[in-house]
Amino acid sequence: MKIAALILAAGQGTRMKSETPKVLHTVGGQPMLLRAVRTAEQSGAERLIVVVGHQAEAVTEALGGRAETVLQAQQLGTGHAVRQATDRLRGACDLVLVTYADMPLLRPETLQRLIEAQRAAPESSLAMLTVRLPDPRGFGRILRAADGSIAAIVEEAECTPEQRAISELNAGVYAFEAAWLWEALPRLQPKSKGEYYLTDLIEIAVQDGRRVIGIEASDPDEVIGVNTRVHLAEAEAILRRRLNQQHMLNGVTLIDPATVYIEEDVQIGADTIIYPNVQLRGQTRIGANCVIDSNTIIVDSEIGDRCHIKASVIEGATLESHVEIGPFAHLRQGAHLCEGVHLGNFGEVKNARLGRGTRMGHFSYIGDAEIGEDVNIGAGTITANYDGVRKHKTIIGDHAFIGSDSILIAPVTIEAEARTAAGAVVTRDVPRDHIAVGVPARMRRLKPPASENERIGDASTAYKTE
Ligand code: UD1
Ligand code: CA
Repeated sequence: MKIAALILAAGQGTRMKSETPKVLHTVGGQPMLLRAVRTAEQSGAERLIVVVGHQAEAVTEALGGRAETVLQAQQLGTGHAVRQATDRLRGACDLVLVTYADMPLLRPETLQRLIEAQRAAPESSLAMLTVRLPDPRGFGRILRAADGSIAAIVEEAECTPEQRAISELNAGVYAFEAAWLWEALPRLQPKSKGEYYLTDLIEIAVQDGRRVIGIEASDPDEVIGVNTRVHLAEAEAILRRRLNQQHMLNGVTLIDPATVYIEEDVQIGADTIIYPNVQLRGQTRIGANCVIDSNTIIVDSEIGDRCHIKASVIEGATLESHVEIGPFAHLRQGAHLCEGVHLGNFGEVKNARLGRGTRMGHFSYIGDAEIGEDVNIGAGTITANYDGVRKHKTIIGDHAFIGSDSILIAPVTIEAEARTAAGAVVTRDVPRDHIAVGVPARMRRLKPPASENERIGDASTAYKTE
């Protein structure tokens, strides 16, 4: 049996009061449209078609080629939208799934239940998802005949007061017998506003003497249709609860899950502890046994095991194991902190690698740099990497010692075990066994280190070595 999925995404979503088409608003960091596409993909449909209309270009671009599109030039209702796919799909499939792109929490298993029900009942024209909710949210009401079978759907705007009180609702997910669907669609009549309702097909099926199967949603949260920003926030909260629960069941401690925002693709190792008020976004992977303290935002980054991150912002960075950063560190694109790096408060690192065990305690900017192992970067060190036109590189060798408030004017190399004195403005390369002093810095030969202790002394002992 060939299955096609049709996702309706042509509406403007007036009730969102937004310049952005409704289906491009995000839930869990992902446009609702892409969530709907993923759900349809996972249901086993072989062909995916999205009906676009309002801001068709933007919606098509957001799809990134993941589905075919069909244009509904004028948005004349959900029935009219489905009809636009007739030429594309007639004769090409046996069963057509129809979903609305504003249902971000729908699960593929639910689509599969509808497919199975429809497949098993050749006397039926369609299987549809129903839901019972205390708050009808503007959903269409399901009317049942005396024998209990589904007879029609009435939209809320057209309900009589008695019909309004019905709590059995149309979720807006359907599996149609394809041949019947294409033949029935032209029989839809426009409503008062000139709209063709997909939901009127139920009555047409009944008139044809066919059955309509109702499958009740097992989890009412799943069928949230987002029409307003209030619904959007509801969907977000439900998704967040689902994801946070999964992480906790996988062995991650969330001290206060209500304040932790973890996007869907994030992975977290066991025994990691996450404090309140943390956001983990995009393609982020966090290892085991880490502590992520409050007020941390991590986006598209890799964090190794046993790292401790305090109140910091990390974007596009890589931390190996046992790295400690913050509070108030900012790691930007291409920051790579090797094992055991310590980065204290107000450190910023961009496009730079800090070797094993390197320490950068306070107020520093390191950009476009290659820094070796066991380097001490004194408070207030700045790589002056930008000359107004181009970016230049700073290289610092293993065991180098950069005195407090050093300005390293790139391109510049500080060789292994070399030093800069406090306040040095370094405009030339510093050879091994040298210390750069002054503004701009001059070079003096260092005495060979008498002991390991002296090599890791502070800036004042660095002065004394000359
Ligand atoms: C629809 C159903 C309602 C159901 C509810 C569930 C109809 C007539 N009503 O109402 O019974 O309870 O969903 O959430 O189907 N769209 C188009 N072209 C159009 C109009 C809409 O592609 O001309 C798309 C929209 O982009 C949206 C979806 O269809 O993704 C649903 O449209 P919406 O206006 O939200 O329908 P509801 O009023 O919620
Ligand atoms: Ca809707």
